[in-house]
Amino acid sequence: MRVFVTGASGWIGSAVVPDLLAHGHEVTGLARSDAAAGQLAAAGARVLRGNLDTLDVLSQGAKESDAVIHLAFVHDFGNFAESLRKDRAAIDTIGAALDGTGRPFAIASGTLGLLPGRVATERDLPDPATAHPRTQSAAAALALEDRGVRPLVVRLAPTVHGEGDKGFVPTLIDLARERKTAGYIGLGSNRWTAVHRDDAATVFRLAVEKAPAGSVLHAVAEEGVTGREIAEAIGRGLGVPVAPATPDELGWIGPLFALDSPASHALTSELLGWEPTGPGLLDDLADGHYFK
Ligand SMILES: NC(=O)c1ccc[n+]([C@@H]2O[C@H](COP(=O)([O-])OP(=O)(O)OC[C@H]3O[C@@H](n4cnc5c(N)ncnc54)[C@H](OP(=O)(O)O)[C@@H]3O)[C@@H](O)[C@H]2O)c1
Repeated sequence: MRVFVTGASGWIGSAVVPDLLAHGHEVTGLARSDAAAGQLAAAGARVLRGNLDTLDVLSQGAKESDAVIHLAFVHDFGNFAESLRKDRAAIDTIGAALDGTGRPFAIASGTLGLLPGRVATERDLPDPATAHPRTQSAAAALALEDRGVRPLVVRLAPTVHGEGDKGFVPTLIDLARERKTAGYIGLGSNRWTAVHRDDAATVFRLAVEKAPAGSVLHAVAEEGVTGREIAEAIGRGLGVPVAPATPDELGWIGPLFALDSPASHALTSELLGWEPTGPGLLDDLADGHYFK
């Protein structure tokens, strides 16, 4: 298949692109800078220059492809409404370009906060009363099924880990370094899901290869790693003590790290034949590369 990938130069995209190429697909990656274009060309992908504001380019990329994987996102937590607006515009534009084609269109979503306190499955829908506003992007994508598109939503674990990670776990590590203590919230029994980056990439490939329209998939390898286990691994890595903290003491990530948000991947494994093979989060943290 010819696959158009937005966010192809990002943390997950740069694992998705080589995985697609290694499985015989052609890839066109969206690049907004020379650096991203160079990275994609070096990986063996075709480059389409543009960004989330160049909707004509997104439309062109989608029209010229057999499948689309949408990973680009503006992670600006200071102006999240604008990030969501751009995401929605991109989804609507790509959806319109694929109208009536039956082609697969996979977007990234998340498991965090989906069903607090219970193990969320792929069939669980977010509670509209408490759902994160970003879940509206997933709903908009799934609604494209009515327009003859094959929409697919990949809910990622909040930690997509591996060497080079710049996400939530490095944020917690920086915070522990600063505070000279690795904090967990309350008893630390709340759970986060986790997945290695390479395993997450495989879910996107298998999704566009074979998931039926409207599939919700969980790129989740570990159903629940506790806050305390994560803090202890960080404490060991940095050689700092581990202690309970309030969400406020951990800054903007505190309320997120406080969530008890386990999720399973049984339905994804059954549908796609996906079995994660990468190291678990605690093994990855014990490996040392997070603390260099
Ligand atoms: N990593 C995780 O743990 C995690 C967990 C749950 C969900 N997700 C979601 O999964 C998706 C991919 O995440 P990631 O970790 O790979 O993120 P990332 O490393 O921050 O990569 C984001 C990608 O989006 C591109 N991008 C940002 N702003 C753009 C713009 N205005 N126009 C065009 N491209 C733009 C970036 O391009 P440049 O390379 O040019 O900067 C990069 O390729 C995102 O939707 C993210 O929210 C990630």
